Amino acid sequence: MTNLAIEAQGLVKTFGKNRAVDGVSLNIPTGSICGVLGPNGAGKTTTINMLATLSKPDCGSAKIFGYDILKETQKVRQLIGLTGQYASIDENLTAMENLTIFGRLHGYSRKDSKQKAGELLEEFDLSEAANKTLSQFSGGMRRRLDLAASLLSSPPLIFLDEPTTGLDPRTRTQMWTTIRNLVKNGSTVLLTTQYLDEADQLADDIVVIDKGRVVANDTPDGLKKSVGSSSLQLTVKNPDQVKVAAQIIERILGSKVQITEASELTAPMACTEKLTDILTSLKDTAIELTSINVRQPSLDEVFFALTGNAENKEGN
Ligand SMILES: Nc1ncnc2c1ncn2[C@@H]1O[C@H](COP(=O)(O)OP(=O)(O)O)[C@@H](O)[C@H]1O
Ligand SMILES: [Mg+2]
Repeated sequence: MTNLAIEAQGLVKTFGKNRAVDGVSLNIPTGSICGVLGPNGAGKTTTINMLATLSKPDCGSAKIFGYDILKETQKVRQLIGLTGQYASIDENLTAMENLTIFGRLHGYSRKDSKQKAGELLEEFDLSEAANKTLSQFSGGMRRRLDLAASLLSSPPLIFLDEPTTGLDPRTRTQMWTTIRNLVKNGSTVLLTTQYLDEADQLADDIVVIDKGRVVANDTPDGLKKSVGSSSLQLTVKNPDQVKVAAQIIERILGSKVQITEASELTAPMACTEKLTDILTSLKDTAIELTSINVRQPSLDEVFFALTGNAENKEGN
């Protein structure tokens, strides 16, 4: 028995001329949470769809708990749960009815299906909404119901495709707790996200993908170290001094400074102690600032540091 929940080698998927997934390899140990981090259009969903046997790779291979996704598709399907980015359950039925139908589809008896549905609704804080139709559900409620539906079969491996995109912070935190509980109960989770902080909070390992390729694969700490634990952001008063200011900061931090369209300077910062040096140097050079801010690096900055290319959004 392998201790890898997912073992993927060189997965490729093309749509016309677009290499949506361009040679992705992954090794995800059983019992862990892997965060696949990447911007819109990076190839996250396409990768998951191949691993979940919803679409066939053009190239490459993958095993789920040792079972081949192409040759042992049925076996693989029994071991996985998949939640889409959007709830895909019937709008006109109540939450209870939806889950009960899912249970029946998974082979539970009518009675067991009802009982399991009730338990899941409770676990996902949806008991009060059990008899509401989906059309009355908020985005966060839908997401939780979608996740609940995918758990009816208690699968050993769960794919969560952007489970918190668009959720309010409170619901997001709730979702994180749920995901942690899944792993405590023995499941392995692969989750995709556009948010660094989410991957940071949840994942044992993070795989960063950009334009269909893995650009980094590390623990959250390792990734942050490579990028800098915080991010400096400042604007100078006189736009003519932007370049000079950037040079000063680069010299002191030893990392590349990104200049945004609004003449804002951002740079990853390994330690905040350098801040004083920067401010002193800027003052000595008579560069006045209009704003300064130190915060967690954004996904964009992580990408800039990893690929030297901030333009990884679609269409750029
Ligand atoms: N069914 C499809 N047909 C054509 N192009 C697709 C299809 N699915 C995804 N793509 C393209 O593949 C790329 C990766 O998409 P996707 O995997 O959905 O990215 P992500 O989930 O990271 O946002 C994008 O350029 C997207 O437009
Ligand atoms: Mg997607």
